[in-house]
Amino acid sequence: MKIRSSIRDYDVHFAEDDGFVAGFSRFPQVCFVVDENVWAHHSDSTLRLLPRDETIVLPVSEERKTLATVLEIYDRLTERSAKRNLTLVTIGGGTLQDVTGFAASTLYRGINWIFVPTTLLAQADSCIGSKTSLNYRRFKNLIGTFYPPSEVHIHPSFLKTLREEDFFSGLGEVVKLHLMGGEGKIGELSALLPAIRRREPSPLHSVVRNSLLIKQAYIEGDEFDTGRRNLLNFGHCFGHALETVSGYEIPHGQAVLIGIVFANIVSRRRGLLPESTFRRLLEDTLLPNLLRPPSPGSFEVDGIYSAMKQDKKRTGEDLAMVLLRDDLTLTKVNDYIRDELVSDLDGLSRILSSG
Ligand SMILES: NC(=O)c1ccc[n+]([C@@H]2O[C@H](COP(=O)([O-])OP(=O)(O)OC[C@H]3O[C@@H](n4cnc5c(N)ncnc54)[C@H](O)[C@@H]3O)[C@@H](O)[C@H]2O)c1
Ligand SMILES: [Zn+2]
Repeated sequence: MKIRSSIRDYDVHFAEDDGFVAGFSRFPQVCFVVDENVWAHHSDSTLRLLPRDETIVLPVSEERKTLATVLEIYDRLTERSAKRNLTLVTIGGGTLQDVTGFAASTLYRGINWIFVPTTLLAQADSCIGSKTSLNYRRFKNLIGTFYPPSEVHIHPSFLKTLREEDFFSGLGEVVKLHLMGGEGKIGELSALLPAIRRREPSPLHSVVRNSLLIKQAYIEGDEFDTGRRNLLNFGHCFGHALETVSGYEIPHGQAVLIGIVFANIVSRRRGLLPESTFRRLLEDTLLPNLLRPPSPGSFEVDGIYSAMKQDKKRTGEDLAMVLLRDDLTLTKVNDYIRDELVSDLDGLSRILSSG
């Protein structure tokens, strides 16, 4: 799969076996940065061929997605003799992608960077789109660059060892992208769901590929996120607010799934989505992929409202939100107000407590 980018086009390769790792030895100067948990599970299997001297194993967390960790990476890389000709290979999830992608884009004004995503979220979503992000103080993803990898290698066997909450987080984004792909894609996802939950490689491969193809259609032509790409924020306005008020207890993709239920409540109330479509999507697609409903205390109006107002993409006084129409196309509205939130939150609480 080829992704076009104004910075550089790049390929996403779907690996059939562990052989892709040996291919990295073709670079004269290569260094690997591996997520500590990935290393613990895969150093004796998929990653057994990595040269130990050239491998940096890093602890990864949202708290460490900061400039301090970037400086640590600069130090580790500049200890080596390699300069601009260095190739950095990142093996990990979206968090390690964000922090190492930022380091790769700035060190020597940009070194060759390859990404091997190891979480469902990173394989199905974040590995394409060129964004790198760091957290600053209490602001998530405040700092960042646009910098695509030169290659992405996807291998389903990494997904077997993901913790359940991390797997379901990725599944939330997979559901979002399949919804954006229309009825046919939702049907394909529903049919494969039991096998996906068993983490069988072939159905996982197929939904990861579908997700990337759907995302690709939104990012190509709007790489810098000024128009159509905004629609990928479906479920994210409320989802981000929920993550914030829950102190990041709710994994990102699961918060997005609840954000989609919320957006659909808004669509239904505003007459964009009929009750029948609302119910069908809720019962067949959204609720079955929710690992566990958040505690009722998460939906406090003032907390949610002020978190929603922090939205980086908000321009006016009212809130912006991406809404679904009956034909499953999306539209962005910029006039959502606090009075609506009170009744929509009530609707959401009722759905989640009954479902
Ligand atoms: N750059 C982008 O376009 C973009 C898009 C979406 C999200 N993100 C960012 O991605 C981050 C979330 O990424 P994520 O959901 O991939 O989670 P993650 O990278 O934080 O990984 C989740 C957990 O799984 C562990 N892990 C990773 N791979 C594993 C494996 N194969 N087996 C066992 N454990 C493994 C990690 O150590 C971590 O504990 C957020 O910081 C978010 O802001 C970036
Ligand atoms: Zn997201």
